[in-house]
Amino acid sequence: MLTCKDLTVAYGEIVALHGLSLTVGTGETVALIGANGAGKTTLLNAISGLQPVLSGDIRFEDESLAGVAAAHRVRKGIAQAPEGRRIFPGLTVEENLAVATAPWRRWGEKIALDLERVYDLFPRLKERRIQLGWSLSGGEQQMLAIGRALMARPKLLLLDEPSLGLAPRLAEDVYEQVRRIGESGLTILVVEQNTVLALAVADRGYVLENGRVILDGPAAELKRNALVREAYLGR
Ligand SMILES: Nc1ncnc2c1ncn2[C@@H]1O[C@H](COP(=O)(O)OP(=O)(O)OP(=O)(O)O)[C@@H](O)[C@H]1O
Ligand SMILES: [Mg+2]
Repeated sequence: MLTCKDLTVAYGEIVALHGLSLTVGTGETVALIGANGAGKTTLLNAISGLQPVLSGDIRFEDESLAGVAAAHRVRKGIAQAPEGRRIFPGLTVEENLAVATAPWRRWGEKIALDLERVYDLFPRLKERRIQLGWSLSGGEQQMLAIGRALMARPKLLLLDEPSLGLAPRLAEDVYEQVRRIGESGLTILVVEQNTVLALAVADRGYVLENGRVILDGPAAELKRNALVREAYLGR
């Protein structure tokens, strides 16, 4: 579904991705793990069209995304739940979801079905649907960020550190839903520092260090790999 080939991305003098290559197959959940500053967010932003690419190519369903604006990538089926959730603080839960509904859909088409799907995954959001964004807990905001991305009916869901800043128990809850979303057939690329959680739901994984992939393979294999354990699991 997604192929990144020899991607180089820089912020002025700072090169954030050095010829990165990665693939995500239809129906797969792929984890990209790496420490602070490894280039994880940069990669997701490059895929969703928020960050220009210096060289290399990104292909989605066998079409190059070069020159395709971010809004059009959403139409093609790419949706991102950004780092730090970026919930609209002054909108209610339901308004946060409603504004993200697929904008190309015909006026008047019911969004009730999409809302129900999100509420079914995250019943807590339904209970809080008239509550304002700013007043949600970190975990609820993360659920809302994922739910909001799902409102665009994506084929590929990009998740940027869904466990960030959450208590271990809440992070596990969020990942339980990520697993359910993956099992429903959606293709997922999740970036994380929390290796244990991400590799538990992923089929395959990549380890990113200073903008380069230093290791990749089946999630089970990466979990066993001594290097990953030492660098990211603290053992
Ligand atoms: N807007 C920017 N301007 C300049 N440098 C940037 C910018 N955004 C990121 N960088 C640099 O690019 C590199 C990769 O950053 P990126 O945010 O992609 O890392 P990350 O893996 O997402 O880290 P974290 O886990 O902290 O979110 C870092 O060295 C960072 O300082
Ligand atoms: Mg980041």
